[in-house]
Amino acid sequence: MSKIPVGILGATGAVGQRFIQLLADHPWFEVVEVAASDRSAGKAYREACTWRLAGAPPESVAGLGVTTCDGPFRSKLLFSGLDSSVAGEVETALAGKGHAVVSNSRNHRMDADVPLLIPEVNPDHLEAIAVQRKRTGGGYIVTNPNCSVVGLAMALAPLHRAFGVEAVGVVTLQALSGAGHPGVASMDIADNVIPFIGGGEEEKIESEPCKILGALRDGAFAPAGMTISASVHRVDVTDGHTMACFVRLQRKAGPEEAARVLAAFRGEPQERKLPSAPERPIEVLTANDRPQPRLDRDRGKGMTVSVGRIRSDALLGLRFEALVHNTIRGAAGVAILNAELLQARGLLP
Ligand SMILES: NC(=O)c1ccc[n+]([C@@H]2O[C@H](COP(=O)([O-])OP(=O)(O)OC[C@H]3O[C@@H](n4cnc5c(N)ncnc54)[C@H](OP(=O)(O)O)[C@@H]3O)[C@@H](O)[C@H]2O)c1
Repeated sequence: MSKIPVGILGATGAVGQRFIQLLADHPWFEVVEVAASDRSAGKAYREACTWRLAGAPPESVAGLGVTTCDGPFRSKLLFSGLDSSVAGEVETALAGKGHAVVSNSRNHRMDADVPLLIPEVNPDHLEAIAVQRKRTGGGYIVTNPNCSVVGLAMALAPLHRAFGVEAVGVVTLQALSGAGHPGVASMDIADNVIPFIGGGEEEKIESEPCKILGALRDGAFAPAGMTISASVHRVDVTDGHTMACFVRLQRKAGPEEAARVLAAFRGEPQERKLPSAPERPIEVLTANDRPQPRLDRDRGKGMTVSVGRIRSDALLGLRFEALVHNTIRGAAGVAILNAELLQARGLLP
């Protein structure tokens, strides 16, 4: 089978580079177009981009010429790691031109006909694409959640299905890479914890899981009726967001029952054996000092969410720690898995 040509919007940025790294040698997709701002357009990718991941960009991409994001693109499938100041308009325009835009940016996540997708959790939300296509005339946008939300919603999904989640308190310890490059100044973060992340981080964590864990009825999203309270922190860790989660369930469940449900969690990507699907979307760790970002973020090639320290909570009933690799499962990796599900379901234009 010849590979499906894809383009990367925002290819020079932190998330764009992760797309290019994860798509090197992908069995279905091949990066043939890279786009970024006017600052980068006209240069070869290797010159436009300061590569900040291990090794070098793949040779097949390094020589590509960077274009602006207005196209035209020959790739029907476009991944977007665009800055949110421009992603909204650019993605809308490209969906209007018939492209499938698989976006990592926040702009369209809460739109009424745009799926906010984690393939293991809410693949049924892809039905909203049919509604969206009536509006655009053919193309569409599919988004993935905020990087912390991916880990949180994956941990909540099996609990919600089995017991019903009523209320969640979450305290995040978020890695530096979540702020892109150069991110937080080293003199601000070394030997320190910053109890604030801009861009409405807490609001996203409090709202996005309700859409993801909610239902799609007659083409309209009905959010899950849970209350979430988030308190976010930037910490001196390169990759991997850790979250202390406190959960009140409708039907009471002890730590052992919760651990069983979490460990057994599987979804459509595992059934279909999609190329980026980890064998286990959630791994339950039993050591009392895990998960830790440095030791556990790369489980399942960065696609597995680690959950540990599952125990009773005097306030809400159940508590645990969850860890997600923020730039793989929390960003480019989940977007690629979204595109694999679109292809497997025959939904790519
Ligand atoms: N970092 C993470 O872990 C993470 C996780 C989840 C979601 N996100 C979201 O993903 C998006 C990208 O984040 P990032 O950290 O990769 O940002 P970044 O490193 O700043 O990269 C931004 C990209 O957007 C391009 N861009 C900026 N202004 C543009 C314009 N006017 N027209 C066209 N392209 C433009 C940049 O191109 P130039 O190089 O040419 O300027 C660059 O390729 C953001 O929406 C962010 O919120 C990030």
